[in-house]
Amino acid sequence: MRQPIIAGNWKMNKTNQEARELAQAIVQGLKADSTFSEVVVCPPFTALESVKDIIEGSNVELGAQNLFWESQGAYTGEISPKMLLTLGCKYVILGHSERRRYFFEDDQIVNRKVKAAIEAGFSPILCIGESLEEREGGKTRAVVSRQLQGALEGLEGEKLKNLVIAYEPIWAIGTGKTATPEQAAEVHSFIRGLLSQLCDEELSEEVRILYGGSVKPENATDLFCQPQIDGGLVGGASLDAESFLKIINSYPIGD
Ligand code: PGA
Repeated sequence: MRQPIIAGNWKMNKTNQEARELAQAIVQGLKADSTFSEVVVCPPFTALESVKDIIEGSNVELGAQNLFWESQGAYTGEISPKMLLTLGCKYVILGHSERRRYFFEDDQIVNRKVKAAIEAGFSPILCIGESLEEREGGKTRAVVSRQLQGALEGLEGEKLKNLVIAYEPIWAIGTGKTATPEQAAEVHSFIRGLLSQLCDEELSEEVRILYGGSVKPENATDLFCQPQIDGGLVGGASLDAESFLKIINSYPIGD
């Protein structure tokens, strides 16, 4: 049985004080009425330390939104895996479409980051997904396959044991358009099939594949009911404690 994850990607939002308040509200809300086991919040770098103190002792884990592959040195503006580990990060989002688009991260760069993250002991949340043009051109499988294989080049077997994948169709991110549960499930199955070529069957069955792209309280249950979907990577709706908690609580535990 794969343990589901609901992760909040706060992107470039929340000052330190706002981040503290949001984290506090999430922790309190979870204590009050949730049995959901793995919740992850990914604040901006500047708020990691504040959020770490607040989630301590709760079932909320900390994730970063990026890292650089070198461990230290003259790389102005970059953050190393070790810096994030010492701040208590267990997860790190890599290959997000916004990084690919605005910061020109290609599959090779994503691969170096995934390798560094795995080497350092993180669970990378590797994001892959097609654009609208690619979907309409019937290229979804080819794109997802290229991104997955590119990001995991040189990584096989046991090395993939902590990997988490987020299928995020670009056309669904921040647009209010969600992939239908069936569309998502179809790509999730395809991704799992690809994984089974990279590691043994048992391990490939253990990798969590999350869906991301306009997940909201209104559509979360339908998405999470799909057995292929092991949780969600939530952007906009994770910035408000109430909607994030609603999403968490809509996961059909025990079904
Ligand atoms: P969204 O973002 O939920 O705002 O669409 C998801 C993401 O980019 O991870």
